[in-house]
Amino acid sequence: MIDNDADLPCNDSDNPRFEDILERRIGRRALLGGSTAAGLAGAVGLFAVPEADAQSYGQGGGLGLRRTPRLEYAFTPVPTNRLDQVSVPPGYTANAFLPWGTPITGDYPPFNPDGSNSGAQQEQQVGQHHDGMHYFPLAPGAIGNRAGLLCVNHEYVQQDTLLLNGATLSGGKRTVEDEVRKEIAAHGVSVVEIYREQRGREWQVARSRYNRRITGATPMEITGPVRGSKWVQTKYSPSGTRVRGTLNNCAHGHTPWGTYLTCEENWAGYFVSKATPLPREQARFGVPASNGRYRWEDIPGDAYERFNATPIAGATAAQDYRNEPNGFGWVVEIDPFAPRSAPKKRTALGRFAHEGAWFAPARPGQPMVVYMGDDSQNEYIYKFVTRERYNPARTDGSCLDDGVLYVARFDADGSGRWLALDYTDADFRAAAAAKNVVFENQADVLVNTRLAADTVGATKMDRPEWAAVHPVTSEVYFTLTNNSARAPAAIDNANPRGPNPYGHIIRWRELGQRPEALRFNWDIFVLAGPEIDSAILGATGASVPALDASNRFASPDGLWIDQFGTLWIQTDMSGSQLTGGPFGNNAMLVADPDTGLIKRFFTGVAGCEVTGVVSTPNGRTLFANLQHPGEQGTLLAGSKWSSAWPDGGTARPRSAVVVVTKDDGGIVGT
Ligand code: FEO
Ligand code: CA
Ligand code: CA
Repeated sequence: MIDNDADLPCNDSDNPRFEDILERRIGRRALLGGSTAAGLAGAVGLFAVPEADAQSYGQGGGLGLRRTPRLEYAFTPVPTNRLDQVSVPPGYTANAFLPWGTPITGDYPPFNPDGSNSGAQQEQQVGQHHDGMHYFPLAPGAIGNRAGLLCVNHEYVQQDTLLLNGATLSGGKRTVEDEVRKEIAAHGVSVVEIYREQRGREWQVARSRYNRRITGATPMEITGPVRGSKWVQTKYSPSGTRVRGTLNNCAHGHTPWGTYLTCEENWAGYFVSKATPLPREQARFGVPASNGRYRWEDIPGDAYERFNATPIAGATAAQDYRNEPNGFGWVVEIDPFAPRSAPKKRTALGRFAHEGAWFAPARPGQPMVVYMGDDSQNEYIYKFVTRERYNPARTDGSCLDDGVLYVARFDADGSGRWLALDYTDADFRAAAAAKNVVFENQADVLVNTRLAADTVGATKMDRPEWAAVHPVTSEVYFTLTNNSARAPAAIDNANPRGPNPYGHIIRWRELGQRPEALRFNWDIFVLAGPEIDSAILGATGASVPALDASNRFASPDGLWIDQFGTLWIQTDMSGSQLTGGPFGNNAMLVADPDTGLIKRFFTGVAGCEVTGVVSTPNGRTLFANLQHPGEQGTLLAGSKWSSAWPDGGTARPRSAVVVVTKDDGGIVGT
């Protein structure tokens, strides 16, 4: 995202409902099976068993894993451009879907194109600034390819487009409560049942009991080691067990048991605290001292004043909101199939600027593993290993409350280690003591995850964004989007450019191909950038090619390995790199992890970021998000805006999903 300084250090018919038919026929777990890698691999029958040859990894020339037959990426690459339209290769069609303001629940209030919908109406409409997203098929097989629940994150809001006349300030303060209510409501997550007719291509919103808006005000449970601790006691929840809302939901994840994970990234800026000194669990994240990002704290009333974390003189933590920021920075689990369930903040997975949370393929009888990044300059890559061993019949979200959080160290020789951030671990306690950092218990470690990672000597990375885990090989790819703050003298083999304006993609394989292993081997897949400063290090063949006109990109952010083993790369360039560089608009590229082939498949509209990608199980409908169209760039003639997507003319731009299909009905990306 841009406009976010926290990246700096510091069916309306009476037709029978698909799910009614399905629940009668097969029950929920079978239904969810359609969303697992194993289910997908079985359905498409494309995967061969990989060679279990860990030795070849990290020695260049690919991973030593061969998956056949491989898809042919025969499409013609899309040229770079700065058009205010989506561009896809010949033979493909792209349509906007579920733009901000689409009514999905309650009274289904129609979208007002002038921004005049109320806060209460926004609570029943799709939020702004789409980001991470997952598609949960409503059934295995053919029906799941045309009916599912789409969960979409809404990272932040843009007041000039969200509100009728932008934010009202009087004497430098917010004064209009409904504006703030609308801003809070446009954050969070949308859960929407979507479907298309059997032979149709056009996806539609079902009037479904699953449809739901989760916002910056939705009551949530705090679970895991931090639940009930002193750090999360507030006036709202003196017992430290509940918190209202989720904010700055960037990327996401989904679990083997069929739930959605949404991750809180740049949450710190939403709060203000004038405490001196600022407690370490807020200082290390940069909670501002002057005012919150949108000044929500200006509006009288508990629902808004909670964003002011300044302690009240004479009060206890259970009587004010000094701890409100500590309720944020977590991975939040949402059960899209239980629309009345409270989302759960899973604190065992640590607290930082959580980009997303991606599972390694779950293997019955083995621990489950989740990979996560902290997207700020010089922050870290983490993984969580559950204590519980996966049982497809029994495992549920409670397994995320008990396990070990690790942080990554990338060593110069291409090996790496996972370092435990565990209060019961002797090495961890020794490392903390050596740095004179004291933790009271595991809740303290987790609330202060960054500080804990500092003490063990984790590797400072170039802004860890998305991970992608191969559904068969469990290899992990991770985008490091860029890092203007890396000094030339501070480069290392895993972050080899200082400064790093273009970013890179690193990858690793855990020892023995066991995701829970504590050692791994890594290499760099691609150094992004222009022809003169880029390299596809993961390419097979005698030479290492640079990127060229067919594939040059910068600032990789979104990442996904689909059910066919195709690696999708999405970009989030901003500033002059977006408006003046050789890269054109933000884009989505297709890559073959085996060969290093990379081709530009899709370009977004003027000023947008491309983020969030998922397909139907058969790969024939692909969903991707365009966030903040027109957030920067030249105003369109006769318009107040720099983009008119998707409505055209002089309409205000709206973040939306893009639905991509191949005109011959084939797999998207081939
Ligand atoms: Fe919200 Fe790290 O991008
Ligand atoms: Ca980004
Ligand atoms: Ca991102």
